[in-house]
Amino acid sequence: MPTEPTGASSGPPLAAAVRAATHRLAEAGIASAPVDALLLAAHALGVEPAEARRLLFLGRTDAPPGYADLVAERAHRVPLQHLTGRAAFRRLDLAVGPGVFVPRPETETLVSLALDALAGEGMPSAPLVVDLATGSGAIALAVKDEHPAAQVHAVELDPLAHGWAVANRDRLGLAVELALGDARTAYPPFAGLVDLVTCNPPYIPPGQVPVDPEVRDHDPALALYGGGTDGLELPLALVARAATLLRPGGVLLLEHADVQGGALLRALAADPAWERATDHADLAGRPRVVQAVRSSSAAPAAPAAPA
Ligand SMILES: C[S@@+](CC[C@H](N)C(=O)[O-])C[C@H]1O[C@@H](n2cnc3c(N)ncnc32)[C@H](O)[C@@H]1O
Repeated sequence: MPTEPTGASSGPPLAAAVRAATHRLAEAGIASAPVDALLLAAHALGVEPAEARRLLFLGRTDAPPGYADLVAERAHRVPLQHLTGRAAFRRLDLAVGPGVFVPRPETETLVSLALDALAGEGMPSAPLVVDLATGSGAIALAVKDEHPAAQVHAVELDPLAHGWAVANRDRLGLAVELALGDARTAYPPFAGLVDLVTCNPPYIPPGQVPVDPEVRDHDPALALYGGGTDGLELPLALVARAATLLRPGGVLLLEHADVQGGALLRALAADPAWERATDHADLAGRPRVVQAVRSSSAAPAAPAAPA
């Protein structure tokens, strides 16, 4: 239970501290300043955000110790999720921090599409799902959480990120198999057997360093830059890997930057391994996830990277 005010003062009144924090974070250029100020207060108080809001309106609680330090760090553009150690993703509360990509709301669209695909015609009752470049495990864990019958496997190259995924898997108690390795050559025994491949790869072109310090300075470079002049070198290598892994009729879902949809659709249309390629928008209406079905006629695409 949250602590009600005791009279023993640990700081200024909570409401005044949150107001000041909101002002400071807004001055630091943070668009979500009011929300961040409240969430940091909740974290410092050790309560859920709704309870922090209640305490705020009751007006009898002091700012908790450590709140000012958290606000100062956030003002220096340390990601909110690194300060709270949490990232909400679909129904899950994921642990995140230095060394792992913070899962984004737009990737939740990919999970919706994955669940639709798993509910579609021709999918077995216990489908085999592979998530390439899993980071914190966000997609793989959410798919397992919302489609428990799926057999979900996920691979990540970065040992630090893999460690976060393992910690999330173990804390959430979701039976997802996590491998440490290169997604370009992953899961040879699954060739031609997989029902669904999901992937949110690094896709930013090398020259387009993100403006937001939270992304530029805190998300690992390995999670951001896709390689090649257009950022599509690794995404296309993973498309090729998906072509090897999927059974005929299996489905690929790949997240991309809004400007990359056209190039990806052209690449998929030119490859006989794929059919029915489409692009889906995220909740903000931007093209975000390509979907394609593994054709039955073409021979598997060659692996994109040496074993
Ligand atoms: C944009 S992040 C996405 C992470 C997670 N899928 C998500 O949506 O939050 C891309 C991830 O790909 C990983 N990665 C980069 N190259 C890889 C490779 N060759 N094989 C496996 N993982 C790779 C990065 O370490 C990073 O965790």
